[in-house]
Amino acid sequence: MNFLDWNKTAIAFVLSFATLGGCWYVGQTLVAAKPPPTPAIPLNKESEPDKAKGDSLKALITQANAQNGQHMAQMLCSVCHTFTKDAANTLGPNLYNIVNRPIASSNGYSYTPALHAKQKESWTLENLWEWLTAPQKFAQGTKMAFPGISDKQQLADMLAYLQTLSDSPPKNAEKK
Ligand code: HEC
Repeated sequence: MNFLDWNKTAIAFVLSFATLGGCWYVGQTLVAAKPPPTPAIPLNKESEPDKAKGDSLKALITQANAQNGQHMAQMLCSVCHTFTKDAANTLGPNLYNIVNRPIASSNGYSYTPALHAKQKESWTLENLWEWLTAPQKFAQGTKMAFPGISDKQQLADMLAYLQTLSDSPPKNAEKK
């Protein structure tokens, strides 16, 4: 190829890119990539899946093995927590009566601001589930140095056990 041919090739390249760019611009202008104002598939209202989640969680826990949960608690939690009535707070707060107790409310325990900020909420089964799945995700900055439990059955067993730590445990939560 001589110099002129190279030049033509270069011009051809430039022109084709310019054309491509032009097409893209026109395409973008004509069909803007905006999401439609209403989704094509109606999304459920927020409360419905939450309720469904709560119900299925209860069902899961009803069938769980509290004894296995107790065993796990001894292995995983007892380094930092006590579980019996009126036992002292240790590295972590005492966990007697934890289910439905207001968050960060064990007398005399000094909580992090991360957990303190959630004081208006209670330890519902859902909150406990989220907390024990990933403490740092539930309350970023918490000092509970525990990575979380990812196995659903183990979590259910653990919550079934925590439910027994009460003067009046729900019927289905009595130790099996
Ligand atoms: C390494 C120590 C450690 C381990 C292990 C640990 N925790 Fe904790 N836990 C803490 C500390 C510290 C706090 C207080 C966190 C804060 O103030 O941010 C806490 C807080 C909690 C709370 C909130 C209590 C309240 O009064 O609001 C619950 C519930 C809890 N832990 C459950 C568990 C369970 C169940 C396990 C075992 C699966 C576990 N923890 C394992 C140290 C630990």
